[in-house]
Amino acid sequence: MSIRIAPSILSADLSKLADEIAMLEEGGADWIHIDVMDGRFVPNLTFGAKVIESVRKLTKLPIDVHLMVVQPENYFESFAGAGASGMSIHTEVSPHLQRQLNRIRELGCRAGAVVNPATPLIAVSEVIADLDLLLVMTVNPGFGGQEFIHECLPKIQQADAWRRERKLAYRIEVDGGINNQTAAECARAGADTFVAGTSLFGQRNLKAAVTKMRKIVNANDPALADLKV
Ligand code: DX5
Ligand code: ZN
Repeated sequence: MSIRIAPSILSADLSKLADEIAMLEEGGADWIHIDVMDGRFVPNLTFGAKVIESVRKLTKLPIDVHLMVVQPENYFESFAGAGASGMSIHTEVSPHLQRQLNRIRELGCRAGAVVNPATPLIAVSEVIADLDLLLVMTVNPGFGGQEFIHECLPKIQQADAWRRERKLAYRIEVDGGINNQTAAECARAGADTFVAGTSLFGQRNLKAAVTKMRKIVNANDPALADLKV
């Protein structure tokens, strides 16, 4: 599966968002990741439909929306209307996961489910065939700049094993504490889609930072490594 680099604008300087998105694009970013937080599921507040709409005007790249909210279904229509390309919802607050995923797809978006570090993968096993994307959180959501939790790596390997065994094609996305080193570890474990905030926006040259992360991830992609043998 081809690699996707999805910078999170949670760490962007919003006063320069247009410039920063342009630099991300120049560096080869594939998606723009937008973190929606409601102050209930996670102890922080961020963006809503209005920001998605503004980002939509700034780029043609797909917008990957990560909903860290209770009752995510309340936002599906407005976010799809604002220009979201994909929406991912947390299993921990989505008791009717299958119905909710179907609704996201009906609205023309890629449907994703998210598991927190403490949530076992079994939480998605019954809907695995309905997923376009599985987001394995590598920090507890709510804030940028947290440290990568290494204990999440076996879950990525398991998700990749299920994907092969069942011949499915969902993306495996990782989010939280992703830098060049942890991205490489996740790529080796089977992840193909990488969200990064602090590690990219913390660098002076944002464009070069994205290009470098892609290069490192590619070098650690097991599928490409097989080809080299
Ligand atoms: C965390 C968010 C992340 C966040 C990642 O709750 O879901 O997308 O922006 O930020 P870093 O890369 O700083 O851990
Ligand atoms: Zn996120």
